[in-house]
Amino acid sequence: MHFQRDAVVFLVVVVLLSSHNHAVEAARGLPVEFLPGFDGPLPFQLQTGYIGVGQNEEIQLFYYFIKSDSNPQEDPLILWITGGRTCSALRTICQQIGPLLVEPVKYNGSLPRLQPFPYSWTKVASIIFLDLPAGAGFSYATKFLENNDLLAASYAYEFLQKWLIDYPEFLSNPFYVGGHSYAGTTVPIITEMISNGIESGVKPLIQLQGYILGSPKTFPNQSNYNIPFAHGMGLITDQLYESIKENCQGDYTNTNSTSLHCQRDLQTYQQLIESINNKHILEPICLSGSDSTMASLIMLPGQKSLYHDLYTKLKTDPFLVSGLQCRDEWSKLSEYWANDYHVQMALHVRQGTKEKWQLCDESLPYNSIIYNTIPYHVNLSKKGYRSLIYSGDHEMIYPHLSTEAWIKSLNYSIIDDWRSWMVEGQVAGYTMAFANKMTFVTVKGGGHVAPDYRPFESQVMFERWISYENL
Ligand SMILES: *[C@@H]1O[C@H](CO)[C@@H](O)[C@H](O)[C@H]1NC(C)=O
Ligand SMILES: *[C@@H]1O[C@H](CO)[C@@H](O)[C@H](O)[C@H]1NC(C)=O
Ligand SMILES: *[C@@H]1O[C@H](CO)[C@@H](O)[C@H](O)[C@H]1NC(C)=O
Ligand SMILES: *[C@@H]1O[C@H](CO)[C@@H](O)[C@H](O)[C@H]1NC(C)=O
Ligand SMILES: *[C@@H]1O[C@H](CO)[C@@H](O)[C@H](O)[C@H]1NC(C)=O
Repeated sequence: MHFQRDAVVFLVVVVLLSSHNHAVEAARGLPVEFLPGFDGPLPFQLQTGYIGVGQNEEIQLFYYFIKSDSNPQEDPLILWITGGRTCSALRTICQQIGPLLVEPVKYNGSLPRLQPFPYSWTKVASIIFLDLPAGAGFSYATKFLENNDLLAASYAYEFLQKWLIDYPEFLSNPFYVGGHSYAGTTVPIITEMISNGIESGVKPLIQLQGYILGSPKTFPNQSNYNIPFAHGMGLITDQLYESIKENCQGDYTNTNSTSLHCQRDLQTYQQLIESINNKHILEPICLSGSDSTMASLIMLPGQKSLYHDLYTKLKTDPFLVSGLQCRDEWSKLSEYWANDYHVQMALHVRQGTKEKWQLCDESLPYNSIIYNTIPYHVNLSKKGYRSLIYSGDHEMIYPHLSTEAWIKSLNYSIIDDWRSWMVEGQVAGYTMAFANKMTFVTVKGGGHVAPDYRPFESQVMFERWISYENL
């Protein structure tokens, strides 16, 4: 692994040196001022482009760069890695922390519409949203290549260095890496690669400050915490919880347990939570054949601002006022949008490089090889990097209890003990800060991941943390 990493760094240096001879300006992204489905010019600065990585740049990574609305000269710069192993960055831009929102209405055959989203994190930071790995979103490779956690991370690192050469005006901005969910694997690895590069004097020098993770996948037995979570949330009885603890001996994931009592208990548990939406336990699951009828009532022709005004005024999750039956119906809309020819032209997508754009391409080959990123957190903490780790407190994919457990295992002393954090006089969640400059935050009512369900509170959390304010 050491050899591999050194080889990657070496490769990067060689490529960087040789790319100096080319016309650097040409490599910058192209501005996007209008987008099909969005009324009028975009109210923020978007550029898109490709950067070639790998030995012969056979991997072309597509990115969306959105400048901070406030002060792009000084505001932090963030490289954002979308969660899911092979998901497009558009998911983060249009549904989570970016300045756009796909209108959550029932698909009727017309191009889905976009709206400005008021809770974007780009209000105070410039963000590079990267389609990673090759094959995800609009990124592509000119020959078949293997994908795995370490390769994806090294390509992201190479991408970042080349991007900064193309955008030297951002070299002095404080820099962070961020991501959700599966990015809990790649983000700490990328951050450590950057940190190692800084120590070895790799140019350009990156002003790395730390990293941001929401609901991160971190260690193998994380789902052990689903059971205490289900118990705390009232989904299973005390009796079953006690019985599982006794019969399964702390390993709640092994349905092949040698103990028949344990097997029986886990089966009972599975039946009890079977129809629970594990992204947010209070939300409906998508039933096949379910149809959203209310959506058309809210979206009368010529009244699209009514809906936008409603969630902005309520400072709530757009889905809640959309009338859609379930969120998957909403996510699908971006596929209709991104596969449109005019959309791809507007985004400067290279024609013929993508057969079909998918929100998450499950068919893409990808090997998970790093199952535990705790050692990366240990190293990054030692080096003094700051980190923001947050969880929606209603999710059961990587429940907040599992995140609290690995943070606790780092053994850092608590400098600000568990307390509520407030937004407009209301408890927005709970937070704890540690001596290793790590801040843990729960977002009350949030799911997997928090900004999907609590966009306003999540934006406030981010803004306070990134500007070194107390939550
Ligand atoms: C779909 O609905 C929109 C309004 O939301 C309307 O403008 C459009 O014409 C409809 N398309 C079709 C094919 O009915
Ligand atoms: C993971 O599970 C093992 C037992 O299966 C346990 O010893 C270990 O402490 C767990 N790790 C964490 C971080 O909870
Ligand atoms: C459980 O047993 C089945 C059949 O022997 C095996 O295929 C599966 O991988 C086992 N699962 C675990 C978690 O050990
Ligand atoms: C953490 O740092 C040590 C010392 O530099 C290094 O040997 C180890 O490989 C690092 N761990 C990871 C996961 O990178
Ligand atoms: C935390 O402390 C425990 C108990 O002393 C120890 O086993 C563990 O290795 C420590 N973890 C780290 C990351 O140092």
